[in-house]
Amino acid sequence: MNNSASMKETATHKLMIYGCYGFLGRLIAEYAVSRPDLKNGLMLAGRNERKLVALARRLDLPYRVFSLSRPEVIDRNIQDVQVILNVAGPLSNTVEPIIQSCVRTRTHYLDITGEQYVFRLLFEKMRSVIDDSGIVCVPGVGFTIVPTDCLSAMLASQMPDATSLELSFAFSNPYRSTAASAGATKATINVVRTQSIHTRRNGLMTPAELFYKTRRIIFPNAGRAFVGSVPWGDCLTAWHTTGIPNIDVYVPVDPVSVSTATVSVAITRFALSIPGLQAVWNRLINILLEGPSPYSRATARMDVWGEVRNRKGDVVRGSLCTLEAYTFTVLSSVFACERVLRGEVPAGVKTPTQALGKDFVLQIPTTKLYEFMRETGAEAAAGERACCGAVECTCSGSVSPASATMNARGGGGSSALRGLACVSSVSSSSTPMLAEIFGIQRYWWMIWSLMCVWGLFIYI
Ligand SMILES: NC(=O)c1ccc[n+]([C@@H]2O[C@H](COP(=O)([O-])OP(=O)(O)OC[C@H]3O[C@@H](n4cnc5c(N)ncnc54)[C@H](OP(=O)(O)O)[C@@H]3O)[C@@H](O)[C@H]2O)c1
Repeated sequence: MNNSASMKETATHKLMIYGCYGFLGRLIAEYAVSRPDLKNGLMLAGRNERKLVALARRLDLPYRVFSLSRPEVIDRNIQDVQVILNVAGPLSNTVEPIIQSCVRTRTHYLDITGEQYVFRLLFEKMRSVIDDSGIVCVPGVGFTIVPTDCLSAMLASQMPDATSLELSFAFSNPYRSTAASAGATKATINVVRTQSIHTRRNGLMTPAELFYKTRRIIFPNAGRAFVGSVPWGDCLTAWHTTGIPNIDVYVPVDPVSVSTATVSVAITRFALSIPGLQAVWNRLINILLEGPSPYSRATARMDVWGEVRNRKGDVVRGSLCTLEAYTFTVLSSVFACERVLRGEVPAGVKTPTQALGKDFVLQIPTTKLYEFMRETGAEAAAGERACCGAVECTCSGSVSPASATMNARGGGGSSALRGLACVSSVSSSSTPMLAEIFGIQRYWWMIWSLMCVWGLFIYI
């Protein structure tokens, strides 16, 4: 690329992973160290010395301990680093001090957020400062939001006059969900507690209720699902990627959670406003939520679905099938950092598609793109047809742990998957967790509000 960002001449370290001893950070660090181009320039970082030293010793990597409270300390620690990958979440708590330091020290910034707050900060409030500094800034290089962002761009190129975009994703198999990690859960609760919920209407970010829209969708592998709209990062980023003025993002949800959403949100906000109670919840979440099992990380797959519509009501639909969300995030974030280090990414605040191209998702091993499906307004009004007709998808049917391990080790012929065994280290004795088998994830709003009521009861 002609206008790719320049590299710091003084930098002695290629990539710093900040927040590396968290669930996702550890997986990313373990994968990054297996990449020949990265191993010798990798630096681990975080604020907890004990956890950091344990990981750094195990991976035989250098490390730096620093918190984000003092700007001069952050500057000192990142000034000789080319790229920082921020995985310390909730990202809304950590993005600001890090990006300000990146601007001062001319360090390229990437993160794995899906939080609207972070995208709004970088794309709206700080855009001109970041663009003027000449650094690369690409938030959202994980499962949120790479596949949906790339699919949005593909759909927009299929229908240049589209006026609305709808996106969704679902766990396709072998189970109905994988368990969330503590960090992802805390980030979601943080959004509900502190930030207003927005969607994209007529080009503007507009306040909306949780699950303000519902519909049914036919995913290529997961099949028909009831989905409710959520304040996902794509409402912000897909607009920058495609210019489509109306954007909704849905997740599978049970109808009871939709009908109780207003009460659940009110209970959550009230419960977490009581001094001291949030710390108790965070501790509980840390204990209870271990993240997806190695079995699920290796075997589960994600369906990603998108639909564009124009003023006449004509529709184009498209779908992707990708690796499990955490496994995908590990690969996509490391590949994105490598692209920046190779000087292939233009400077400035960019969505993943603007930075890496709409085919980036197809470069992540095992990703399948289904044929686009076109319908006229009249056909679309008659109901959605399944979008599964065309492309063979390796993720349909269940994937045995043994074959998943083989794939993860590059048995499928992809060198990019080598080293991934550490991410999804599956042995034949690995088993999914009960929560994954029963798909408890989609009832989590109900479970969460019951926990809040129970917590309040004990507190009072
Ligand atoms: N893109 C995706 O598809 C995707 C998927 C899953 C998760 N995520 C996001 O990834 C993030 C991390 O998830 P996770 O499951 O790895 O979380 P986690 O296990 O709770 O780890 C979070 C890490 O961030 C650090 N951290 C948190 N607040 C910090 C602060 N104020 N200053 C410095 N360090 C801080 C923690 O350090 P301490 O232990 O010292 O607090 C820990 O190392 C979450 O925000 C989540 O939303 C993205």
